[in-house]
Amino acid sequence: MQINISISILNVLLLLFFSSCSGMMMRNPMYDAHPCDTCREIGEKFIEGYRKTAGSNFGGGNTDWEEKKLKGYAKSETRFIEIMETACSKSESQCSTFLEKYEDLIEEWYQTSLLETIDTFTKWLCIDTAKVCCPQGTFGKNCRRCHHGDNGLLCSGNGLCDGDGKRSGNGRCLCNAKYSGTNCSNCQSGYTKSVDANNQIVCTDIDECRTNFFFPPCGFYKCNNTDGRFECYGEPFYLQSSKMSLIIVLFITTSILMYKDMQNLALLTCILTAVLVFVFSRNIL
Ligand SMILES: *[C@@H]1O[C@H](CO)[C@@H](O)[C@H](O)[C@H]1NC(C)=O
Ligand SMILES: *[C@@H]1O[C@H](CO)[C@@H](O)[C@H](O)[C@H]1NC(C)=O
Repeated sequence: MQINISISILNVLLLLFFSSCSGMMMRNPMYDAHPCDTCREIGEKFIEGYRKTAGSNFGGGNTDWEEKKLKGYAKSETRFIEIMETACSKSESQCSTFLEKYEDLIEEWYQTSLLETIDTFTKWLCIDTAKVCCPQGTFGKNCRRCHHGDNGLLCSGNGLCDGDGKRSGNGRCLCNAKYSGTNCSNCQSGYTKSVDANNQIVCTDIDECRTNFFFPPCGFYKCNNTDGRFECYGEPFYLQSSKMSLIIVLFITTSILMYKDMQNLALLTCILTAVLVFVFSRNIL
């Protein structure tokens, strides 16, 4: 009996825990679209709806009456409602909330603007009126300019600006792989910078294994160049018994030859030993 009660209490607690978790997830702004994205979507749908309804209610006749009717429809409440109905899909609460908030202003714009200016609708709604977006290439509350490179491109054409086109973000360049610097005009370590014919910065991998002949980066180990880096692997020659035996044998031979006063042969084996030590230490063999 007691066990049963505690199990049901446990179940209730678990249920409470999970429901509060899912509640948090629903409210978490991470799961919401940025208001600028919502706004741009509405803007596009509005323009689309506006274009679609442009030919509506056209009877085909050419009479004055038909023309007047057409003109009347162009700015009519009927058409406005028709357009607004397609601006959000019904399930998107964020979109509907946004649209409700700006409905009156949108209607005012619709009534007072010239038909040719429909292309500027999104800019008017999202940048100038709701102030949730910024012009492309700018970011943050006051739409400050993102970092540009010396070639005039946003983040030198090698990255994205944090908050680009939105009233958010910190404007930092998020550079693509290989690139670095405030405007992505530098290369990360392990790459060399060059500028191509189109004034684009190009970062090329440095082959570290070949850059220093006298002091190779891996010492007596083998070197493998990889993208932006290098790896050392293998066994150095002094840990390989076959190579070391050969060197020791040659060294002893040289000593014996010298002891026997056979200088020319001793010189030969000495040179051979030196060459082998060099070749082995470079991992050439
Ligand atoms: C881009 O950044 C580099 C250094 O990171 C700087 O020298 C250069 O002036 C910057 N260019 C512009 C247009 O700000
Ligand atoms: C060298 O690096 C490349 C690229 O990372 C890798 O595919 C290759 O297996 C490496 N070779 C050795 C011998 O470690």
